[in-house]
Amino acid sequence: MDRVRLGIVGIGNIAPLNVAGYLEHEQCDVVALCDPRREKAERMAREWNVPTVYTDLEELLADGGIDAVEILTPTNLHHDHVIAAARAGKHISCQKPMANSVAEARAMLAAVEEAGVVFRISECFFHYPPLMKARELIEEGAIGRPTVIRIKTVVANTDTTFQASLEPEGYIWRFDEHSPGGHLFDDVVHKYATALWLVPEHVRSVQAVVRRGPLFFEAPTAAIWEYERDDLLGMMEVSYAPNQMIRSRYYGADEFFEIQGTDGFIWVTRATGEMLDLPPVMLYRPDGSTVGFGNLDANWLRGFVDSSKHFVDSLLDGSVPDMTGDMAIRVLQLCFAVYEASNTRAPVDPATIEAAASPPWWPKDPDTLLEEAMEIGRAQGRI
Ligand SMILES: NC(=O)c1ccc[n+]([C@@H]2O[C@H](COP(=O)([O-])OP(=O)(O)OC[C@H]3O[C@@H](n4cnc5c(N)ncnc54)[C@H](O)[C@@H]3O)[C@@H](O)[C@H]2O)c1
Repeated sequence: MDRVRLGIVGIGNIAPLNVAGYLEHEQCDVVALCDPRREKAERMAREWNVPTVYTDLEELLADGGIDAVEILTPTNLHHDHVIAAARAGKHISCQKPMANSVAEARAMLAAVEEAGVVFRISECFFHYPPLMKARELIEEGAIGRPTVIRIKTVVANTDTTFQASLEPEGYIWRFDEHSPGGHLFDDVVHKYATALWLVPEHVRSVQAVVRRGPLFFEAPTAAIWEYERDDLLGMMEVSYAPNQMIRSRYYGADEFFEIQGTDGFIWVTRATGEMLDLPPVMLYRPDGSTVGFGNLDANWLRGFVDSSKHFVDSLLDGSVPDMTGDMAIRVLQLCFAVYEASNTRAPVDPATIEAAASPPWWPKDPDTLLEEAMEIGRAQGRI
């Protein structure tokens, strides 16, 4: 293959960030868009100069001029859409989370294996330069043997154009029974994936406390996981600060990553947001000196652009793209293990999870969601 002819399936809120890398790649032609919302798909086709619009996935999949698809549909549709694309012989890049349950994810993987097509879950955090630098430093042994990995996510208020222009449709399926959980499933899944990617060792057990927050938030949350190796622990925190403004170009959120090793520390001081005036990566070396890597591209968009380009490159050169289906299943198991461990207040081995898990309050009824939205609006002075 010396060019990739790509179809984009689902032209919702995240599509502009994902499609940018495909439009930029010199050996990729975005040849079709597909969305039941014809007006939106036609508008974006004009903006991106894409020749064909479909409103039905089967029609796009029957188009012999398409080699591969990027699936950007609501997560609950990934199972059906990936299986249909595999059966149509298309190579597939699909957004996270892979599916609503481990069983669904396994069925998807079986279908792509049977069809012999390339399949990956797109993970923008794996292509975010500060996190790539941190991983490179760990692999080089710059901090010795990792002993504690700690990941913090904070969700707060923001006034970005990106957030203000999000379409409300994107909130509905995330907040109701179409999803097995809220923010820990929809967003923190990136951070579970990043934990497994930064320090690729076997997680044998998870403990967690997940609190009910407003809307789809599950905060504060704290989780700890044990690895096969006794001298390594993973930790995850999620907090919610609705009245705190956050500097960002995208969502009102930011992330911090800290990897302690036997010989030093690595800090990644931002991701989605730009809260801190610090170099995006800092290394504390064995001799006590500190190095700041201030020249990295720390714009969160870079991860999306390079993740899309990476998929095209892997189709062109025949290499295996990230994230593999097997890894995406382990990510889902870790995510559900956190819910399950909090529900039972007992350690959970993620490998035992074959279905899904949800918080006890999930899904919330529409009146509760409305009241919680009003309360946040009042606290922020918007209503
Ligand atoms: N990498 C990231 O950081 C990131 C960020 C946001 C969302 N996502 C993931 O991307 C996916 C989409 O999220 P979103 O926020 O854009 O959601 P969204 O609801 O805004 O967009 C989904 C789009 O899919 C379309 N759609 C629905 N059914 C369809 C069908 N049968 N065929 C074709 N299109 C169909 C909808 O009309 C809509 O335009 C989700 O899986 C989400 O988890 C990833």
